[in-house]
Amino acid sequence: DLGEYRHFMLKEIFEQPQSVVGTLENRLGSDHVLPALVGAADALERLAQVDEIQIIACGTSYHAGLVGRYWIEANTDIPCNVEVASEYRYRRQPPRKNMLLVTISQSGETADTLAALEKIKESQGCLATLTICNVAESSLTRESDMSLMTMAGPEIGVASTKAFTTQLVALQLLMVLLMQAKGGDKAKIAQIVADLRKLPALIEQALDLHPKIEALAEHFIEKNHALFLGRGEMYPIAMEGALKLKEISYIHAEAYPAGELKHGPLALVDSEMPIVTVAPNTALLEKLKSNLEEVRSRGGELYVFADRDAHIIAADNLHVLEMPHVPELLAPIVYTIPLQLLSYHVAVLKGTDVDKPRNLAKSVTVE
Ligand code: F6R
Repeated sequence: DLGEYRHFMLKEIFEQPQSVVGTLENRLGSDHVLPALVGAADALERLAQVDEIQIIACGTSYHAGLVGRYWIEANTDIPCNVEVASEYRYRRQPPRKNMLLVTISQSGETADTLAALEKIKESQGCLATLTICNVAESSLTRESDMSLMTMAGPEIGVASTKAFTTQLVALQLLMVLLMQAKGGDKAKIAQIVADLRKLPALIEQALDLHPKIEALAEHFIEKNHALFLGRGEMYPIAMEGALKLKEISYIHAEAYPAGELKHGPLALVDSEMPIVTVAPNTALLEKLKSNLEEVRSRGGELYVFADRDAHIIAADNLHVLEMPHVPELLAPIVYTIPLQLLSYHVAVLKGTDVDKPRNLAKSVTVE
């Protein structure tokens, strides 16, 4: 049922505060996360032994995994790798004893992700397998030792929206659980838990930008290409923004870590190339601002989603949309919202089939 919404994608974008509430519900204690959330009585004992993590996923779920790596490596001493399942499954991996294999999937049925999991179980093995998944009775939950369910509810639009943001929430819960298992800093854990409780309200504030983003979408409909920039954990968010734009509006979009600009893509920049940037007030902000200047001085048209304290001032060729002030760990989740809305409105203006983009299926059960 679409209710007041024109498309499922828009409905699902606006459902995100509720799907985040659902994913946090009954999982947070006063100053910690509840180990039962991964569905194993001995979760903390198992996770205490982990000395390496491998994340496997496809598409949007892969982007969630990339953010997860930044978070896990910033807050624990556990090295974390992330790879798309279709690559991982066809190459040799050296044996690793105490590895936790984490799959991420909305459907729990993606053929490559499932095959990568099976391959690991049959060949070298690993300490344990855990899936972050949105469907309780799926192949991935059946085949994994532990399951951390996202509570996004059914997602109808082919382009993943609420599934992605709840995957990010699940990755933060897993990160905190790993911190607890490894005896991490209690005050830091309590702070992350307190911040997570603020997330639904922050997403609501980002959704309030809706009319402004709708107006912005006009600028993109005649363009053939777009560039998305981010740094640090915002780089995978730029990748996700670019994927959303290409899959539903059919505009070619690419994401780059902003520091890579001068190693090639700067050659593409002219007045026909819109450049979308996500700029929360994080440690890398000053570096990002100098990357923006590189683009602007070459005539590029910039669209920046920025924290008010980032002090990025609108000017010719520089459009600034002010975002709510967010704790650093929540920035990737909150900044995803305007990028979803942007791709949605560009697609609507172009008249594409938003909920069922050409050539794509919701669940990819064949290789
Ligand atoms: C993009 C999108 C796809 C899926 C990918 C993995 O919006 O939805 O890229 O993320 O096909 O699907 P799941 O998460 O079901 O394994």
